[in-house]
Amino acid sequence: MKTLLVGYKAADLFERGKHGKKFTAKWIDGDVLCHTLDIYHRHAIEKTHHIRAVCSPHLPEGPWDLIKFKTGPKLMSGELSLDMLQEIHRLKPAKFELEFIGKERDRNELLSKIRDDPDRVRDFSAKWPASVPGGDKLMFTSYPGCFCHRRLDEGGLALAEVISRDLTSHPSSPIPHPSSPKLLDMGCGCGLVGFLVKSVVKDISLVMVDSHSRAVEAANLNATNFNMPAEVILADNGTPARMDGTFDVFAGNPPYYSDYRIAEVFLETAKRALKPGGLCYTVVKNDAGLRPVQERYFPNVEVIRRRGYCVLKSVKAQV
Ligand SMILES: C[S@@+](CC[C@H](N)C(=O)[O-])C[C@H]1O[C@@H](n2cnc3c(N)ncnc32)[C@H](O)[C@@H]1O
Repeated sequence: MKTLLVGYKAADLFERGKHGKKFTAKWIDGDVLCHTLDIYHRHAIEKTHHIRAVCSPHLPEGPWDLIKFKTGPKLMSGELSLDMLQEIHRLKPAKFELEFIGKERDRNELLSKIRDDPDRVRDFSAKWPASVPGGDKLMFTSYPGCFCHRRLDEGGLALAEVISRDLTSHPSSPIPHPSSPKLLDMGCGCGLVGFLVKSVVKDISLVMVDSHSRAVEAANLNATNFNMPAEVILADNGTPARMDGTFDVFAGNPPYYSDYRIAEVFLETAKRALKPGGLCYTVVKNDAGLRPVQERYFPNVEVIRRRGYCVLKSVKAQV
């Protein structure tokens, strides 16, 4: 019996009993795999649920005897739910169970979209334009699940504008190797910040990191479409150690839903990844909360206001 669990809270579907210190499957027998879109969730599931988990932008191929999908308006967007449902339909599991957290009416509406037109293959990707002064207009592609699917994030745009302005207006001073600087775009999403900066600073080389597999997929596609090479890494704990101390510029637009815990992961990475004299830029709506956090990693923090956001700029101390 092969079972696939799908959804951000899919691991909850794995009910088990605890016998002494050993966890055993109670309700699901056989081979159970939990799919995640975010590598952070994969690591959390492996730690707390002790089941096999895989992180990928699309569901793993079967055959599956059973697919269980947990969703609802509070768990994922309607578009992502439908996208996942379409993938499940394509995999043709022998049995399918939906646990919908929400109203019965919404559950039926979601299911009817697949049942009413089972052979229709919907394309859920979106294209939208973005540019910074002095750069080309870029048509970004995003997918459901990516941060800011279908629209531009003003915070990310503000960050890209400040960085590209700084790098072009001070060609000789702020960057240790201005001829071919190296930028780390952490939490890159579909690559908004890095690609916009590269549209102005043509010789910059890009490394991008995101914990979401669909963000990585979109960033890779955008790199190809823009003809802008980028190394895109799926990770939730920063760049690999081989990259420590190799970057001239760090850009991060971290999520703030967990207080500043993820911002701290970003800043810890920035401190490790940057060369002495390298520049760290983060963006936030209001600097009051992030500023003291950033000061713990970089004692100097300059606040640059743009588009209703605060870009926090620091320089890594020379040793
Ligand atoms: C606010 S979005 C910014 C996306 C893009 N840079 C922009 O400005 O539009 C934050 C991104 O950080 C990613 N993220 C969250 N936790 C992360 C972690 N621990 N490591 C890497 N990326 C992470 C999310 O998947 C999301 O794509």
